[in-house]
Amino acid sequence: MPSNTLTVTDNRTNHTYTLPIEDGTVRSMDFRQIKTGAEDFGLMTYDPAFVNTASCRSSITFIDGERGILEYRGYPIEALAEHCNFLEVAYLLLFGELPNEAQLKDWRTEITHHTMLHETTRKFLDGFHYNAHPMSMLVSTVAALSTVYPEARKVHDPANRLLQVKRLIAKMPTLAAMANRYNVGLPYVYPDNDLSYAENFMNMLWKMVEPKYAANPVLARALDILFILHADHEQNCSTNAMRSVGSSDADPYLSVAAAAAALSGPLHGGANEQVLKMLDEIGSKDNVPAYIRRIKEGHGKLMGFGHRVYKNFDPRAKIIKWTAEKVFEVTGRNPRLDIALELERIALEDEYFISRKLYPNVDFYSGIIYQAMGFKPEFFTVLFAIPRTVGWLAQWQEMHADADLKIARPRQIYTGERKREFIPMEARKAAGAMKA
Ligand code: CMC
Repeated sequence: MPSNTLTVTDNRTNHTYTLPIEDGTVRSMDFRQIKTGAEDFGLMTYDPAFVNTASCRSSITFIDGERGILEYRGYPIEALAEHCNFLEVAYLLLFGELPNEAQLKDWRTEITHHTMLHETTRKFLDGFHYNAHPMSMLVSTVAALSTVYPEARKVHDPANRLLQVKRLIAKMPTLAAMANRYNVGLPYVYPDNDLSYAENFMNMLWKMVEPKYAANPVLARALDILFILHADHEQNCSTNAMRSVGSSDADPYLSVAAAAAALSGPLHGGANEQVLKMLDEIGSKDNVPAYIRRIKEGHGKLMGFGHRVYKNFDPRAKIIKWTAEKVFEVTGRNPRLDIALELERIALEDEYFISRKLYPNVDFYSGIIYQAMGFKPEFFTVLFAIPRTVGWLAQWQEMHADADLKIARPRQIYTGERKREFIPMEARKAAGAMKA
């Protein structure tokens, strides 16, 4: 018997099956042969929320959640955050290798070439409610780009796919900045292609009457580092949405809109906004113990804590804490930092959090930096979506090149009724209708 196999005995039939193990994984379809008889559908595996199911093979991002390791294409996140700029990392994620100087120059030119929006998209923004949530505006306008680029539907043409990838990476900051200007009632600022990716974003957000926007270099670098840290995180909720929607051959604008919608939820990218709301609700360091007590009693969650994969520490949170120090040297210390540090200190000594392996995640400190830089909490998840677009697109490209690609279509365990006798209208009772 080869050692890289799994032997399973079905006690219903006493049959034994030998299933291959590859990469520490068994194929769910291999269980289908396990039946009680010819009429039996065969065994399925039940895994709500994909807690222990690999949905694809990927060579983009590696995470070891027990050891707190995150690598993009094999490079540690710490090294990339220290030495690279965001577009360099975007190139790495998309194409598998770090660019040399000439490649990076060309890549930067290609991206800046696409930063402008078609004017119809700008007009689309104008139609939103005056206090529309910027994340909802981003999801809607990125979907609207699908109307501007109908050729994006040719998802089996690699050259066409790459063109849309460049457009999306280039236009996300423009869409995001315009959503912000719309919210605060300021005229839109068009891209300045002399500036770096982060600097141009800051220009579109904050330029007033000066002829040329000059970004603070410390803040621009901090934003660039935050973009690097958020660029990809393998098969999380939004990436899963990107792959799932993309697997139907939907165009990349609609697929990115779906992924961004998944990101907006407070358990995912929306957590950074919630962390700030939570810190405001706590109000002062003295209130931290009582707040933690309430969480332990089952009243809500400590936002910015816990992770499906990281069970020791989130390496991104460590880099963010370090970046925060640099930002505060320019902006002054965000007073919420003291509450956050106290929350972290008490939680990390508490049996409830220790036994459940709950540690600060990427969203715990990022909002404190963003707020110090002048962003409103409603905008924080948009700041997550801009760089994560690169990860979504890298995963989408990888998916389209995968020989195993099929439309995503999970199974279910049906728990409803069967073969009921139809009831004519006059014989139906009201009971049981419209249950919430
Ligand atoms: N505060 C208090 N208790 C928590 C928390 C938290 N933040 N997170 C998990 N728990 C408890 C949970 O109630 C459960 O307890 P019990 O075993 O007694 O029922 C236990 O810890 C295990 O949690 P889980 O819900 O099974 O964990 P999960 O892997 O399904 O959820 C998570 C992961 C990130 C959704 C969750 O930890 C959470 O909701 N955290 C707060 C929101 C947040 O910060 N999200 C950002 C995640 S990182 C960036 C990103 O993905 O966008």
